[in-house]
Amino acid sequence: MKLAVLGGSLRRESLNRRLLEHLARSLEQRGHDLRTLSGDALRLPLFDADLPAPAEVLALRDALEGIHGLVIVSPEYNAGIPPHLKNAVDWLSTLAPNPLKGLPVLLAAASPGAFGGARALLSWRPVLANLGALALPVAITVPLADKNLDANGAPLEARAKGEIQKALASFLEWTARLRGEPHDPLPPS
Ligand SMILES: Cc1cc2nc3c(=O)[nH]c(=O)nc-3n(C[C@H](O)[C@H](O)[C@H](O)COP(=O)(O)O)c2cc1C
Repeated sequence: MKLAVLGGSLRRESLNRRLLEHLARSLEQRGHDLRTLSGDALRLPLFDADLPAPAEVLALRDALEGIHGLVIVSPEYNAGIPPHLKNAVDWLSTLAPNPLKGLPVLLAAASPGAFGGARALLSWRPVLANLGALALPVAITVPLADKNLDANGAPLEARAKGEIQKALASFLEWTARLRGEPHDPLPPS
């Protein structure tokens, strides 16, 4: 399937970008076609309703075209969505057609804190519902991510390893189901 991973922060050492790269590799290893949208691809002008969508936003829209499912890897800022990611989805929501509409979305977060970015993911759910995207019931959180992710973004701890494998399997099942493809039963939650 054609899939995209979008997120991470803009800083060079972003833990969320490391996690995103690990998730992208894991999906590629399962034979899927991956587009990675992070770093400079998300360095967009601040949303201004008086302006037409800038070239950077149209490039993001083009990169999302034709995908069957999306993984969003979001840092948590003050218990919510960081501004560069909210800015990106606000721009995308003004386009016709809105490229996020109807997409199944797996939410993921990594944080050095104890909650692993869970509160940011709760903030994403109403935003995605408003965009007509389907945030899946499973999600990935990596607490203490400065200690629990290796240099390539792979989890070091057994609980996170298991959670990531289960969440990716569930994401692929839902995405195949929504496309009407043959599928296995959903893994146990
Ligand atoms: C403005 C700001 C607010 C933050 N608020 C939270 C928070 O509410 N919860 C949390 O777990 N971490 C919070 N953090 C810490 C981030 O989780 C941490 O900096 C993390 O490494 C950011 O993701 P990144 O590594 O992908 O850049 C905040 C960081 C910043 C810069």
